[in-house]
Parts: sequence; structure tokens; C-alpha cells
Amino acid sequence: MKNAMNTSKLIQEANKHILYTTERPDIIMAKGKGVYLWDTEGKKYLDFIGGWAVTSLGHCPDVMVKAIENQAKELINGSPAYYNIPMIQFASLLAEHSCFDRVFFSNSGSEANESAIKLARKYGEKYKKNAFEIITTIDSFHGRTLATMSASGKKYWEKLFEPKVRGFKHVALNDLEVLIATINLNTCAIMLEPIQGEGGVYEIDLAYIKKIKEICDKENILLIFDEVQTGIGRTGKLFAYEHYGIEPDIMTLGKGIGGGYPLSAMLTKEKFNIFEAGNQGGTYSAQPLGMRVGLEVVKEIIEKDIPKSVCIQGNYILEKLTNLRDRFSLNNIRGKGLLIAFDLPLEKGSHVVSECLGKGLLLNAPKPATIRLMPPLTVNKEEVDEMFAILEEVLEDILKN
Ligand SMILES: Cc1ncc(COP(=O)(O)O)c(C=O)c1O
Repeated sequence: MKNAMNTSKLIQEANKHILYTTERPDIIMAKGKGVYLWDTEGKKYLDFIGGWAVTSLGHCPDVMVKAIENQAKELINGSPAYYNIPMIQFASLLAEHSCFDRVFFSNSGSEANESAIKLARKYGEKYKKNAFEIITTIDSFHGRTLATMSASGKKYWEKLFEPKVRGFKHVALNDLEVLIATINLNTCAIMLEPIQGEGGVYEIDLAYIKKIKEICDKENILLIFDEVQTGIGRTGKLFAYEHYGIEPDIMTLGKGIGGGYPLSAMLTKEKFNIFEAGNQGGTYSAQPLGMRVGLEVVKEIIEKDIPKSVCIQGNYILEKLTNLRDRFSLNNIRGKGLLIAFDLPLEKGSHVVSECLGKGLLLNAPKPATIRLMPPLTVNKEEVDEMFAILEEVLEDILKN
């Protein structure tokens, strides 16, 4: 499987022509299947990053390959000005399996959140005397467009690309008193990740979210769930809001909805179907190729009841981590389904990640002492065991020596 191309020459070219935005190791990924990736040198990697919680059905699943092939022969882009068949089928499927009625499709999580922000402002303008403020949480992550960066509560971004889009207030997660004190007549929405993903896998409390829902209903404030990371089976239910017995007014989806194909959606209820023509759109909104892929990915997840196996494998991972807790002084083992994290006793997250990479395991460290696991939703017990064999070896090396 060795690539005929010279890897170091390609890396040199990359360093010359790819705009610098992040540190990348000198590795070029060339092929993927299931939970594995291979680089241009033929080295195999067990992927517990999952394309950043994206490859819900693993790498290059047959259902996606077939969907792309078949749809590409029929229609790739018929223009956002017209309906297409998979767009209608996909919107209907999402509505049928959620508490929502209406769907707007886009291409990235950030764009879906932009739609949610716009819809909340539209609501404020129409029904709340131009209220436009949205409350979000500290350490939240809602995307990288200017508005979604402004919405995010990421400390490092506070002073970046000023001036930010105004109208966002950040409060500590799970602190009801602060949230209540922050609400005012200008508040049109509260926007939350049910589990903060990039922030390090921190979940909203059940009592907190139930109370927020009550307040939102009473004060005419929209509740937006950013389920870009938690949606489409990741937490062991099709949508994370189902864990809390409440229904948000707006939900955004991304990542796993396309299984790796760039796709996202904003869902809302009929009563918030309030955009006027031209308020929202996009050249690639609901293009047939992406719609067919998303439709087949989500159908597969529902028909095969993948959220059930997500629970089983997620619980198995949590149990194995708990068994390692004392040996490696691991703290705060947490998460739901296949969105799991734990803290190391030292700020050695990036060291653990790079040692694992050397041994052919892909992991993520969202914080200096935190390791996050987000494998494909189709990961099995043997693959989990394989991951632990490498992780244990690395933890032994780094934490004990
Ligand atoms: C909760 C959440 N919202 C939004 C985004 C942004 O999605 P995208 O990178 O597809 O724009 C992310 C990405 O990590 C996310 O985790």
C-alpha cells in the first residue's frame, strides 16, 4: 500500500503552499477503511479521533461510496433555486425522527449555527422588540466564522479578530443563578452544547437544563441546542436532547450527519418558520450529492440502531477507564456514548497524543491534561481493546517512567 509518491517531497510542498493555520505532523493520510487510516508510507492508524467526531460510519463505508457514485451519475448540483429529491427525503427523515418540522441545510457546523443565530435574531426582531442578545457558555465552541467565534466561550479567542460580532454573553455552564441574572429584555436566545465537546466533554446538568427550558418558555426566549458534535447517535441517542426530556426550539447538526461529507443542518419547529425570502440561503445549500449522502448515512444509523451499540461500546470504554483509574491516577472519567474524556494527573496530554501517534493510535487532547475519545459510532469491542493495549503502554511509559 506504499504510495509511489515521495512523502518527504510532498511534505516540503505542503510546507510551501498550504496556508499555515495549525501544527501538523509530517504524515500524509492516504486511505481509510472502517476505524483505520493508512498514510503514504503504508503505516496503519487506529482512529479514535474519527475525523473529529465526523466519520460516524467509519472511513469510506460502502453505503457512502455507493450513495456518492449513484447520485453523481444522476445530479450533483441542480441549483439552490430548485428542490431536489434527496433534499426532500432527507428533510422528511430528520423531521420524522426528531421533535422538529423544518430543516435548513448547509455545509459546516459553523454555518448551521450562523443560521440558528440569524433565526433567533429574526425572532427577536419580530416578536421581542428587536431583542438580539444570545447567552452562551464559557468554554463553549460554536464554530470559526466571526459570529460563531463571537458566540463561542473560548478564552483564547477573547481578543482575536476584534471587533467581534456583538450580542453574545458568556456564562459559566451549570450555574443557574448567573444565567438568570444575565437574562434581560434584549435576550432572544440561549445557545448550549448539551455536552461541551471542544471544551473538554462537560455535560449540562439535568436540573439546570430543565429549569432553563421553563424560563425560556416563560420569557419567550429560544432554546438552541448546538448538537453539531453530540447529534446523530454520538451520545447513544439519535439526538442528545432526548437524554433530558426536553425539546429545544432550534437544533443544529453537523459532523456525523454527513459521515465525513461536509454537511450540516439547522432544525426548528413550524412556529419558528419565520425567515422571509432571502434572509438565509447559500450556493451549496441542500445540493443533491450531499443530501443523498446524508440521507443514506442517517438512514443507516437509524435502521441499524447504531445508537444502541454506541451505548454498549461507550459503557465498555468507561468501564475499562475506571479499571485503569488507580493505576494511572486518572481523574474525572466522563462522557456519554462515544464522546468520552478523562484527565491525566499531569499536563501531558499532547505528549500522550504524540506517543500514541507513533504507535499507530489517533487520540485528541482538547486541554493540556485531558484526553478525548470520539471513534466512529461503528467501533467494536476488539477495536476498543486494541486502543487500550496501546494507550496503557503509553500511559505506563509517560506516567510511570
Ligand atoms: C459543538 C460544535 N459546534 C460547532 C462546530 C463547528 O463545526 P464546523 O467545524 O463544521 O464548522 C463544532 C466543531 O468542532 C462543534 O464541536
